[in-house]
Amino acid sequence: MKILVTGGLGFIGSHTVVELQQEGFEVVIIDNLSHSSLDVLDGIKAITDIKPQFQKLDLKIKKDVKTFFKKYNDLAGVIHFAAKKAVGESIKEPLMYYENNISTLVYVLQELSELNQQNFIFSSSCTVYGQADILPITENEAIKVAESPYGNTKQIGEEIIRDTCKVNKKLNSIALRYFNPIGAHPTAQIGELPIGVPQNLVPYITQTALGIREQLSVFGNDYKTLDGTCVRDYIHVVDVAKAHVVALKRLLDNKNDYDFEVFNLGTGKGSSVLDVIESFEKVSGKKLKYQIMDRREGDVTSIYAETTKANDVLGWKAELTLDDAMASAWKWEQKIRNK
Ligand code: UFG
Repeated sequence: MKILVTGGLGFIGSHTVVELQQEGFEVVIIDNLSHSSLDVLDGIKAITDIKPQFQKLDLKIKKDVKTFFKKYNDLAGVIHFAAKKAVGESIKEPLMYYENNISTLVYVLQELSELNQQNFIFSSSCTVYGQADILPITENEAIKVAESPYGNTKQIGEEIIRDTCKVNKKLNSIALRYFNPIGAHPTAQIGELPIGVPQNLVPYITQTALGIREQLSVFGNDYKTLDGTCVRDYIHVVDVAKAHVVALKRLLDNKNDYDFEVFNLGTGKGSSVLDVIESFEKVSGKKLKYQIMDRREGDVTSIYAETTKANDVLGWKAELTLDDAMASAWKWEQKIRNK
């Protein structure tokens, strides 16, 4: 079965391509290479022995999307990762985010509606919840006003799919709301490749440990949490990738209960920034240089997933630990720096 993975050279996309190929799916990747590199194809091949088909394509160019879907009219499903994801950048450049994340989704759904099989997996985010009143957070929690244009694109994205499913009875879709995906493939053949100064915690930690960054700034230790630092649900990227294969099979086997379903992808366990540092120090045997700084604007205090729906209905559960994730992130960072 042929599956299209948009943004398939990115962090979560590339790990999902590996899992799909290991499950026997034929994968076609589209990526515009704006935040990724062709070398990722070699990493995927090193793990799976298969080089996926690849087409450099910018989904913002509607006619190119049309041409692509005319050529690949035998797709069994689409997993749509291609999107921008930096919260701060989205606040500075909202229109770029709306064009990039929304118009591309619309074009893909328009072309998908021409195909026989219309199975669609969407990358959503726990950002749709904002600061939750009750933790762990369930999929039924009300959606809050988005805190950034990025977050808004995920909310709007879900709405676009929901509205489309109402009128297009052939379309079946699952939105996966990721909590904080971290880590790398255990082989260290693929991983996260942040451009410039990392904005996210884990690549900042691994770069600091190698001396690329002087020290980690811990953004605030006066939150109402056990140790005062923010709490997140860090989930190994390989677990996230596997969930996509499970979700896709659910659609392919017509096992879905509704034409549009939403699942949280988390571990159900909250870890503070200091917990993550401690885990890193344990698995690497290195002491991390860090300093407590002011709070970062826009951070929620605490968020972690209620995973019962994903466990029971989707039949998926995160298997790997925070230590596994930190060890793999560290192995990857050392590999890409040739250390
Ligand atoms: N943090 C630091 N120092 C850093 C970087 C991060 O202390 O240098 C802290 C943050 O304050 C936060 C935690 O580490 O408490 C995690 O921060 P990340 O930037 O790694 O992740 P976020 O939880 O802010 O963001 C993630 C995704 C977004 C998504 C958001 C939803 O990266 O795409 O969750 O909450 F929108």
